[in-house]
Amino acid sequence: MQWNGSAQVSLILTKINYMNFHTRKWIKPEDLNPNGTLYGGRLLDWIDMEAAIYAIIQLENTRVVTKYMSDIDFQASAETGDIIEIGLEVNSFGKSSINLNCVVRNKMTYETIITIKTIILVNLDESGKPTPHGKTTTEYHSDRMKLRGIGG
Ligand SMILES: CC(C)(COP(=O)(O)OP(=O)(O)OC[C@H]1O[C@@H](n2cnc3c(N)ncnc32)[C@H](O)[C@@H]1OP(=O)(O)O)[C@@H](O)C(=O)NCCC(=O)NCCS
Repeated sequence: MQWNGSAQVSLILTKINYMNFHTRKWIKPEDLNPNGTLYGGRLLDWIDMEAAIYAIIQLENTRVVTKYMSDIDFQASAETGDIIEIGLEVNSFGKSSINLNCVVRNKMTYETIITIKTIILVNLDESGKPTPHGKTTTEYHSDRMKLRGIGG
């Protein structure tokens, strides 16, 4: 493929803009590992919760479970007192599943702390079986507000 500088930079910027960094966490002593840096299990716990909330809102169903995660890359550590933010975006919508990717970065320095390329969550029915969610595109808060006639 031929390099088209400005078009590709603009595509990358557009992609970055779609990642929503909603949740911030303030690293406290109880979040640390024996090495004195952010415990990875705590970070994955926060990400799993954030991904579930994101999927619940996108799929408009509270019965959503995490099925699969892959390509987890702990790139840098965080220390007590740091503020981090969790970003998620949709890779794709399946029939009953939603495929997300995640970036967590330091709020002040923008250093990337972890990336997860794939997080699959599955939409369930009342009996706990996968059920189609009928969604095909990411829905934004502002669009939903407009649809419901809320706000200016
Ligand atoms: C989630 C669960 C109901 C799925 O059951 P299942 O029999 O695997 O369901 P299916 O095979 O129909 O797969 C459901 C969807 O997940 C996708 N999927 C399943 N395994 C996958 C994997 N390893 N990688 C990527 N996608 C996968 C399927 O492609 C399918 O997506 P689609 O409907 O969009 O095409 C079941 O595995 C389960 O209950 N797991 C435990 C979940 C859990 O407790 N999570 C932790 C707490 S939140």
